[in-house]
Amino acid sequence: MATIAAGCDHGGFSLKTVLIEHLVASGHEVLDLGTHSNERVDYPDFAETVAKSVASGEVEFGLLVCGSGIGVCMAANKVSGIRAATIHDVTSAHLSREHNDANVICLGERLIGPEVAKEALDIFLASEFQEGRHLKRVKKINEIL
Ligand code: RB5
Repeated sequence: MATIAAGCDHGGFSLKTVLIEHLVASGHEVLDLGTHSNERVDYPDFAETVAKSVASGEVEFGLLVCGSGIGVCMAANKVSGIRAATIHDVTSAHLSREHNDANVICLGERLIGPEVAKEALDIFLASEFQEGRHLKRVKKINEIL
């Protein structure tokens, strides 16, 4: 079981709510860092908070949801140590972990349905970084300032 910080903007609030329920029912520990309603907010604020929670080691993984999954991903990747990936399906979910050691999963509520999102999230959390030939490439990502 994993510890996960979850965040979203108004465009991702409904899906984040569904996914937190799903994660808790599966036995994961979730830190809900907002937003907590459909009221308009700015996604970089929540992406930064979640990304810093992961980068500090407070939690193992981050979950970010906005309308497209793109804005939160761009913002989260500004934080050192974060490898955030926008995920649309189970294939990108496991590849982002196995090849890229992704530590934040970003989803777009306006682009994927809740069942695909739940399955992709489950696969993301269950997949492991394969190291090997991928290790030096991820190290090179980490070295970019
Ligand atoms: C909000 O309208 C929307 O721009 C946001 O949720 C996200 O899709 C940005 O990338």
